[in-house]
Amino acid sequence: MLKIGLIGVGFMGKTHLENYIRLAQEGAQIQVVAICDADESKLNGGGAAGNIDTSSSTIDYSKFNKYTSVESMLAAEQLDVVDITLPTFLHRAIAVQCLDAKVHVLCEKPMALNAEDCEAMIQAAEANGKQLMIGQCLRFWPAYVYLKDLVDNDTFGNAVSGYFYRGGSTPSWGPWVLEKEKGGGALMDMHVHDTDAIHWLFGKPEAVSCNGRNMIPGSGYDIASTSYRYEDGKIVNAHVDWTLQGDFGFEMGFKVNFERGNVQFTGDSVKVNPNEGAGFNPELSADMGYYFQLKYFVETLLEEKPFLTATPRSTMGSIDIIEAELASADNGGAWVNVKQ
Ligand SMILES: NC(=O)c1ccc[n+]([C@@H]2O[C@H](COP(=O)([O-])OP(=O)(O)OC[C@H]3O[C@@H](n4cnc5c(N)ncnc54)[C@H](O)[C@@H]3O)[C@@H](O)[C@H]2O)c1
Repeated sequence: MLKIGLIGVGFMGKTHLENYIRLAQEGAQIQVVAICDADESKLNGGGAAGNIDTSSSTIDYSKFNKYTSVESMLAAEQLDVVDITLPTFLHRAIAVQCLDAKVHVLCEKPMALNAEDCEAMIQAAEANGKQLMIGQCLRFWPAYVYLKDLVDNDTFGNAVSGYFYRGGSTPSWGPWVLEKEKGGGALMDMHVHDTDAIHWLFGKPEAVSCNGRNMIPGSGYDIASTSYRYEDGKIVNAHVDWTLQGDFGFEMGFKVNFERGNVQFTGDSVKVNPNEGAGFNPELSADMGYYFQLKYFVETLLEEKPFLTATPRSTMGSIDIIEAELASADNGGAWVNVKQ
């Protein structure tokens, strides 16, 4: 039985809790025994929703031991695993604290605000002989997993171009998200999903050119568009915008063109268009990537295997790319080499 402690019961914390409860109901040998949040009201289910409607069940908060500090939770509980769903600027310090306390760690994306912090997290995991996984959930999201299979299996030959989109209304639930030093702006907080997906699908680009625009005072880049340069000439671009107001809601998707076909994801469904023959919609699970990500996380730990789908080194590599994107945006879109 894997004993889990969850730190940060906000938008993502609740999403993870719901999925752990579902996994336990499905028979996974796991139990969330403790939850921790500096804001006591969150320990009883208070707080607002985020940009994706992830709610599916009601959580019985009376079942958990409750803490308002990480230190007191680690001291009082015998945990195997800690799940960190805290604001991004806290990822490094709390992940290192938990790894030093000899527990395995799942930490939400983005891994940290810079590569130096990511390195410290990896060093702490290695020094303590504990596993660290970062919640880059697109690596587990059915539409993106489908695309990854097309790339890896060469189903339609090489990819020749790819466009990735992510947009939504301005986050309003956690004030830290709109402070550049705490959340890194839309370029770090939202766009990292697509940067990580591009990295996972196609490898590290040689260089990036990013145009960014600030709209909300103090938040960093709220709108950004990046071109990724690859040796084989593949044209890859990703666009993020979290200033879409009115009824826009949230949208993510991609269009990828291969030598012998193209595929697009519009948020609801995937459409595959082989160059020859009729297009089709593959049947994919309607479950979100969060469920498959946590399933993979707990099953891998229970089987005492390493995390191959999202190694901390590869998620750190995505932060290397974001750092190059930020440097490019700060320099009017100049091409910046990515650390290899
Ligand atoms: N994977 C995804 O799709 C996705 C979506 C949204 C957010 N995120 C990531 O999840 C993380 C959390 O984001 P969120 O939207 O849930 O934020 P949030 O503000 O809703 O929740 C954060 C919680 O942490 C608590 N907290 C803050 N400081 C604390 C401390 N020192 N000790 C204990 N608790 C503390 C807050 O009270 C709050 O309840 C961020 O890194 C964000 O980028 C991921």
